[in-house]
Amino acid sequence: MKNRITELLGVEYPIVQAPMGWIARSPLASAVSNAGGMGIIETSSGELDAIKGEIQKMRALTSKPFGVNVALAFVRDPGIVQFIIDQGVKFVTTSAGDPQKIVGPLKEAGLTVFHVVPSLKAALRAVDCGVDGLVVEGGEGGGFKNPREVATMVLLPLVCEKVRVPVIAAGGIVDGRTMAAAFALGAEGVQMGTRMVSSAESPVHANWKNAILAAQETDTVFLNRFGPGPALRALRTDKTTRFEKEPPENVMGEFRNALALYFGGDMEASIALSGQVAGRIDAVKPVAEIIAETVAEFEATVASLGRRYG
Ligand SMILES: Cc1cc2nc3c(=O)[nH]c(=O)nc-3n(C[C@H](O)[C@H](O)[C@H](O)COP(=O)(O)O)c2cc1C
Repeated sequence: MKNRITELLGVEYPIVQAPMGWIARSPLASAVSNAGGMGIIETSSGELDAIKGEIQKMRALTSKPFGVNVALAFVRDPGIVQFIIDQGVKFVTTSAGDPQKIVGPLKEAGLTVFHVVPSLKAALRAVDCGVDGLVVEGGEGGGFKNPREVATMVLLPLVCEKVRVPVIAAGGIVDGRTMAAAFALGAEGVQMGTRMVSSAESPVHANWKNAILAAQETDTVFLNRFGPGPALRALRTDKTTRFEKEPPENVMGEFRNALALYFGGDMEASIALSGQVAGRIDAVKPVAEIIAETVAEFEATVASLGRRYG
């Protein structure tokens, strides 16, 4: 498979693993890179010393390309740009904020920079800032979200019609059919978050993975649309169902206990960021299997559409 994303990123398949605080570390990211996709290391945990170690581990675990994400709203340390340049990675995604200050120095240092956008306006601004490409993220995806969320089905073709840079689709991508749909809408790559949370190599507690397997498509909640703080999409639990009606005063405060949920398995201790595709995931699979199945199903879907309608 060859297109602008595989060429720019130096990967076999244009499939990117989403950055996710504490989760997107070397065991998961190296499995993705080794399977021919793009593994990404997070920085949104803010634990930059640990991240440095994770990047070193990546060099031991894979000889394939990998990237780093900077969620601008969560990593306010102005040293982050130099930190990333110093780590010697070649691919960065920036998200959750205005890329203006950070894109210039990263590009001057020779990195490829993609910015994550939730709207056409943000996409055009990022292109003006000189990004190499975009991750276009629909509101059905898991994680922190623009409060005025738009579904991938609407946002992706809208942005792809208006920009020339290559686009990676995120939000709702889980298999080869959704990848083919994203390509039909103009994307040249896909990013998977929730699917990777539920993979065998994901470090989260089995209770979270099992909750994803058990979830129906209606089992996520969109919280905090009216602030203060960011909106987000997460799995439906007793706590988040309560928050749907009565938002907490400080939603970010709920993440103080994140590790008790992420690694301790107490699903009521915090908030389990996850997307609507939880309703389509019914098995924990190794990353290599997820990627191989996605590619095979993508090719079969495109061929079958071509036979039927081409
Ligand atoms: C647990 C979790 C944590 C996330 N953390 C981040 C993050 O730190 N930075 C970021 O850019 N996106 C983050 N996201 C959003 C993902 O990058 C991705 O775009 C989204 O999960 C895609 O939708 P999907 O869940 O339908 O695959 C997170 C998503 C999840 C599920």
